[in-house]
Amino acid sequence: MRAVVLRAFGPPERLVLEWMPDESPDVDQALVAVEFASVTFVETQVRAGRPPSPAMAPRLPAVLGNGVGGVVTRVGADVDQGIVGRRVVTTTGGSGGYAEQAAVRADLLIDVPETVGLADAMALLADGRTAIGLVDLAAVAPGETVLIEAAAGGVGGLLVQLTRQVGATVIGAAGGQRKTAHVASLGADVAIDYSRPGWEADLRARAGSIDVVFDGVGGHIGRACLDLLEPGGRFVSYGMASGAFTQIPDDGARRRGVTILRPAPREPGELSDLTRRALIEAAAGRLRAVVGQTYSLEKAADAHTAIAARQTIGKTLLRATTSPETHR
Ligand SMILES: NC(=O)c1ccc[n+]([C@@H]2O[C@H](COP(=O)([O-])OP(=O)(O)OC[C@H]3O[C@@H](n4cnc5c(N)ncnc54)[C@H](OP(=O)(O)O)[C@@H]3O)[C@@H](O)[C@H]2O)c1
Repeated sequence: MRAVVLRAFGPPERLVLEWMPDESPDVDQALVAVEFASVTFVETQVRAGRPPSPAMAPRLPAVLGNGVGGVVTRVGADVDQGIVGRRVVTTTGGSGGYAEQAAVRADLLIDVPETVGLADAMALLADGRTAIGLVDLAAVAPGETVLIEAAAGGVGGLLVQLTRQVGATVIGAAGGQRKTAHVASLGADVAIDYSRPGWEADLRARAGSIDVVFDGVGGHIGRACLDLLEPGGRFVSYGMASGAFTQIPDDGARRRGVTILRPAPREPGELSDLTRRALIEAAAGRLRAVVGQTYSLEKAADAHTAIAARQTIGKTLLRATTSPETHR
């Protein structure tokens, strides 16, 4: 099979397509012929050698990629043969996704509903479970006003839709006019371009009082959004796309009456259940998956370049063209 191999941390060009031995499922595993592999923002940081935490740095050489979608072609001895042929999305457990085959835990496979496309299901695999988990964590209530950063992104775009559904007033903030137009098309009540000077004042004027901030960016954008919260507000810190988490002064937030929320680690089974919820929402037509860009496996470096340059909208996928070997 072919896989995208990282032999040294560095720029996107370090992602190189190579031939590797075919995967074989262990007793409790299923072999997935990969049609799509998910590319996540954090993988660009891992590839560059700047992961959010040192524990996330893989041993090299490595095949990045924590999410795949495709068809089950073989199973290990302890797994029900009946699942062969199923269309699934699943986590790889951290690595091995950017490849034509993935051997994965059979108990974590998630069936894709008939009416949901595989690419759309991939857009809901990680981003869907993350967004649903964050809305649960923040306990957004009808009538509240929420502010979502990077609102045109994978997680951000789903947060816009989910919080609208709850009955919140949604302010989506993103960089550039193409992105704010997309945020508005997802149903945000207000779309703010934070690449423009003076955006904080614009936001303050148009938003009124903000109850919840979803902070996936950190850095100065996260800090500016934190400062917009009223007493009693909640600040959900879940990412650092800027390169640094939002600096929150030790007792500053508490003194202002703002609660800081951070997602706790979850068991793999719980994460699968959250993805299933996202797929049910999509199948019912209540959640729109946005696949903004798809690259071939050999263009994995281009996918990373586009994400790091903030050029992407929604989910970014790699399409693995399956070799004849995959179908044996
Ligand atoms: N995907 C998941 O399941 C998941 C899970 C846990 C945590 N997270 C975290 O959530 C954040 C968003 O993840 P995502 O996968 O949905 O990515 P994404 O939003 O699709 O892409 C990241 C976005 O962050 C914004 N950004 C702000 N400053 C940036 C900078 N200096 N460089 C690059 N981008 C910058 C850009 O949007 P603008 O141009 O509009 O600012 C960019 O498009 C990331 O920090 C990620 O690590 C994601």
